[in-house]
Amino acid sequence: MDQNQFHRLIKEGEDKLREAGIDAASAEVEIILLTLLDVERIDLYLYGAKLIDDKIVEKFRKIIERRATRYPLQYILGEAWFYGRKFSVTEDVMVPTPETELLCEIAINFARFKKINQPTILDIGAGSGVVTVTMACELPDAAITAADISEAALRIARQNAQSYFAEDRITFICSDMFEALTPDSRFDLILSNPPYISDDEYKDLPPEVLADPKISLVSGIEGMDIIRRLIDTAPEYLKENGRLMFEIGYNQADLIAKITESDNRYKSISIIKDLNDIDRVVILGLK
Ligand SMILES: C[S@@+](CC[C@H](N)C(=O)[O-])C[C@H]1O[C@@H](n2cnc3c(N)ncnc32)[C@H](O)[C@@H]1O
Repeated sequence: MDQNQFHRLIKEGEDKLREAGIDAASAEVEIILLTLLDVERIDLYLYGAKLIDDKIVEKFRKIIERRATRYPLQYILGEAWFYGRKFSVTEDVMVPTPETELLCEIAINFARFKKINQPTILDIGAGSGVVTVTMACELPDAAITAADISEAALRIARQNAQSYFAEDRITFICSDMFEALTPDSRFDLILSNPPYISDDEYKDLPPEVLADPKISLVSGIEGMDIIRRLIDTAPEYLKENGRLMFEIGYNQADLIAKITESDNRYKSISIIKDLNDIDRVVILGLK
């Protein structure tokens, strides 16, 4: 294909996605081509045209057509990026979001700053395993327990752990919150990106988010059911100087502060904002 045909193909894809209401059309077309050609970004524009044959054009058009139905690109390609690493994703797991990278960054910095030797970490609601595997890769002496109520999600998490050679340091357990843990388990860090959307908010979600498993999103009338269970039970499983860190919805910080104020097992609370200045991660320390 020559350079003009290449640019026409890119424009064709972008126009179709834009018509379907997808704002990041250019970025998505680029991701599709990078994946199909398996090249770096710079090489796409230097040599991309030469690499494109009829088969690639056919695959490209099929992906654009599917994406124009607002089915998530990550499910179409079977992969998503998180904390600089590629993860397999299927409809059995939620597509990871960049906000959760903040949770990981805070947890990694905490473990490094406190120089915790062989930190023990529990990831409640592990899903595709992005938090678990990121911890395993960034903290090479950590031992992680990945818990999820969904067996299907844990299969994907295990697969992702294997692709980063991290499965030896991870215990996968199918569990409703803390229920399947042995009562004497204790952790330096309990992390969670829990479902935190309310029943009302769920109705207004964009089609891409509605493609995620409902169990990974919704948590009762206020979206707080799982968070309340986390706050209530985590102290039983934390080491003395351990921390509970979890992601929250944009409007939940005040309610969480109120709940923890009246819980005398907790000594400290910090709420960290994300890059959009939205309260995003709660950190709780024990008395
Ligand atoms: C928001 S997703 C987070 C997935 C992944 N950690 C991430 O950050 O992309 C929430 C996860 O919690 C799991 N989950 C929902 N209810 C649960 C429960 N009662 N006990 C354990 N896990 C649960 C879901 O299956 C889902 O994988």
